[in-house]
Amino acid sequence: MTKIIGIAGSLRQHSYNGGLLRAAAEAAPGGCSVDIGSIAGIPLYNSDLEDKEGIPETVTELKEQFAAADGIVLVTPEYNNSLPGVFKNAIDWISRPPEDRPRVFGNKPVALMGATPGSFGTAFSQYAWLPTLRALGTQVWSGDLVWVSGAMGKFDKNGNLTDDGIRNKLQKSVAAFAAFVERMKA
Ligand code: FNR
Repeated sequence: MTKIIGIAGSLRQHSYNGGLLRAAAEAAPGGCSVDIGSIAGIPLYNSDLEDKEGIPETVTELKEQFAAADGIVLVTPEYNNSLPGVFKNAIDWISRPPEDRPRVFGNKPVALMGATPGSFGTAFSQYAWLPTLRALGTQVWSGDLVWVSGAMGKFDKNGNLTDDGIRNKLQKSVAAFAAFVERMKA
């Protein structure tokens, strides 16, 4: 079984990116599971807090989901042509302490995707992740990208995907990514 952990970088209840992640999980092929992690409840990173209290429980939970996974899917909103601070904050926390980085991220394949009501499908945000993913020692998958523009017409008011074209694209993309993860495991 190929195990993938997916997280969406939005705290919004009816987030388009949360909906895209749920649809990606449903699109997983046989022999592959996509578990859904969450950035909810993760405090702002502060090294004083880390020194005094160690790694918060919400962070450890997400970090161990990453450590147990063969591959990672980051579903990223775009803020001001870059990645959202709340999402980066969560990844920064789970990169602590540095000795754990190889276990949590090392050589793990990462797929990026994202949704926006705007026109450019989170392209800027997905590219903005690249230096961070390189620093963490991951292997960014450069296969079929999922960039969802005009999200208001493709998700319902609860943030669930309603667009069959995107669903088909997700099926192909998640299957191709799962095959890449499988090859990296071998
Ligand atoms: C945005 N949004 C946005 N969208 C985009 O395509 N490019 C951008 O540069 C920005 N910039 C931006 C800045 C800030 C501060 C906010 C709050 C929003 C709009 C954004 O895509 C929209 O709010 C999405 O709905 C966010 O994703 P979720 O929360 O629906 O997953």
